[in-house]
Amino acid sequence: MKLTILGGGGFRVPLVYGALLTDRGEGRVTEVVLHDLDDSRLYAVARVLAEQAATVPDAPTVTATTDLDEALRGADFIFSAIRVGGLEGRANDERVALAQGVLGQETVGAGGIAYGLRTVPVAVDIAQRVARLAPDAWVINFTNPAGLVTEAMSRHLGDRVIGICDSPVGLGRRIATVLGANPREAFIDYVGLNHLGWVRGLRVAGRDELPRLLADPDLLGSFEEGKLFGTDWLQSLGAIPNEYLHYYYFNRETVRAYSEVEKTRGAFLRDQQAQFYDEMKRPDTAALTAWDRTRAEREATYMAENRETAGAGERDADDLSGGYEKVALALMRAIARDERTTLILNVRNQGALSVLDADAVIEVPCLVDANGAHPVAVDPLPDHATGLVCAVKGVEREILAAAENGSRTTAVKAFALHPLVDSVNVARRLVEGYTEVHPGLAYLK
Ligand code: G6P
Ligand code: MN
Repeated sequence: MKLTILGGGGFRVPLVYGALLTDRGEGRVTEVVLHDLDDSRLYAVARVLAEQAATVPDAPTVTATTDLDEALRGADFIFSAIRVGGLEGRANDERVALAQGVLGQETVGAGGIAYGLRTVPVAVDIAQRVARLAPDAWVINFTNPAGLVTEAMSRHLGDRVIGICDSPVGLGRRIATVLGANPREAFIDYVGLNHLGWVRGLRVAGRDELPRLLADPDLLGSFEEGKLFGTDWLQSLGAIPNEYLHYYYFNRETVRAYSEVEKTRGAFLRDQQAQFYDEMKRPDTAALTAWDRTRAEREATYMAENRETAGAGERDADDLSGGYEKVALALMRAIARDERTTLILNVRNQGALSVLDADAVIEVPCLVDANGAHPVAVDPLPDHATGLVCAVKGVEREILAAAENGSRTTAVKAFALHPLVDSVNVARRLVEGYTEVHPGLAYLK
């Protein structure tokens, strides 16, 4: 079985390859093709993968190419993990937004819109090529903003594209663990959009255990989301939000914290990764050791500013490895081998969340088998959550329209309608600022 990874020179590719190496079963991936625009990044990552494979018999073969069509032909699965504009682009997304006093995070608020506007046209081009060159392939989209990018691709690939994120899985695992339940045996009642969802229940053997957690301030305060949001607020909500909702519920504090840091997340990662790829150019560098050190530092500093505002302290050791590669592997196995399972994924709604239309991509538990991912029916969201989900889906639709029509006016509308952008004038200045720094937005006229 052939797996193609787009963004194959990306820093997190060794996580995926590491997960593949643990898979000894029949029908596993035997061939990995890395595609990237940048040869030196491919070379760097290939070195890490070679060290990972060194002690493993029958490790999947790895080849690398900068030719997209060649990479796609004959693929059974395609992982798309690209970063249009690179980490320099991410840092610019943050900088321009913060200069206007709004959030520049890569998936939330103004930053997410800017990143979406430059990623959607590229993702659409990939989807069209896949439809032509590998029509039977399954595309697993890791590219952020994951829900929006998956929806853009689904217009060309239908349900053959599935978006993934590890944050709902991590959240479910933490809740199950504090409740003393086995995460693998718990059904997580979670729904929303990517990075905008809520756990409303956690069922073990049919019984909802979440009320027990919500009633117990000590338990509630003992894990990441409890520390981030505070027990009082979780009790008020009666649900556990995805960690990215911290940017909404504590917007003023997070904007301030991010304005005061010496380096934003994007700038930190830009510099950190530049150093890693530089190190990889030296033939004597121990590739896997250098990669692992860089990864550990990245994971330890994830959402550091949010945690600092909340006084949440260091991350728990168990939370350090997000596990998105595990979600991707579980999804791929379920489809390739008809190993039925339930996973929280980004798929077309198809009636699961009645407030949105059938084609809207949502994040929801899905039953997965050889025929793909099928969203389960979920209870409606409370009004406050419905409001946010509909507002943000409305913004995503404006981004898709702006990308399709190349319309600057529609881009302004997308920014202006976002709940975290507080004036139409701010939206206008954001579009000005972003089009100045991003060549990838030159299509907006
Ligand atoms: C989490 C999020 C992903 C994000 C990743 C890395 O897993 O769900 O969407 O890509 O963290 O975040 P970072 O800030 O390190 O790039
Ligand atoms: Mn994510």
